Amino acid sequence: MIKTENLTRTYGKGEGKVTALKGVSLTVNDGEMVAIIGKSGSGKSTLLNLLGGLDKPTEGRIFYGDREIGSMKDGELAEFRLKNIGFVFQFFDLIPELTAEENVLLPSRLAKNKENSAEEIYSALDIADRIKHYPSELSGGQQQRAAIARALINSPEVILCDEPTGNLDRASGEEVMALLRRLNAEQGKTVIIVTHDPEIAAQCGRVIEISDGEIVN
Ligand SMILES: Nc1ncnc2c1ncn2[C@@H]1O[C@H](COP(=O)(O)OP(=O)(O)OP(=O)(O)O)[C@@H](O)[C@H]1O
Ligand SMILES: [Mg+2]
Repeated sequence: MIKTENLTRTYGKGEGKVTALKGVSLTVNDGEMVAIIGKSGSGKSTLLNLLGGLDKPTEGRIFYGDREIGSMKDGELAEFRLKNIGFVFQFFDLIPELTAEENVLLPSRLAKNKENSAEEIYSALDIADRIKHYPSELSGGQQQRAAIARALINSPEVILCDEPTGNLDRASGEEVMALLRRLNAEQGKTVIIVTHDPEIAAQCGRVIEISDGEIVN
């Protein structure tokens, strides 16, 4: 279970101060598939980055089960993220100097994980034949599927996605969503998707709407 208590995140100081999140408390149960929707600038990415331990809240706490990630030391948090959370971003964020395969295997090497069944993931994602190529030699959909493979390589229980279909054509976007739904339904992964697309939100079990840094629905 992921639980946040009164999460607040302010950026900057004085005149330029922006409060991106204002006391967000939410619970996501294991195996849920949740969409976070809201207008541009409402605080969706800020919330997702905090949930994933990529950023620290100004106030408030985040629990994974009974572990509070804010109290972890940097190294401990990095290791926790590596093992428990998979990230999928809007711009894929593959490392251009590495092949798709090297990108996918990077988290597993960082985690010193020997037993990764990469081949299985490639075939499930239908990228096996493109895996030796560099990101610049892949289509957007293939890059995003490689990014999802990277998110899955350490078998995390939680997958956090920020506009995962934002840069894909309709067909590739639908494939990526079908894949995320399968991971949720068949493997019980907890999936949290930030999106402004109502059709994507409709495919999730629950929709959390945020406006101006607060949950409104
Ligand atoms: N590093 C930062 N420094 C200052 N302000 C920031 C920073 N990151 C985000 N903000 C501000 O915080 C608010 C929330 O931003 P956030 O990126 O969470 O919005 P979002 O809902 O993800 O929007 P979008 O749909 O456009 O991606 C915005 O007003 C944004 O300008
Ligand atoms: Mg965003």
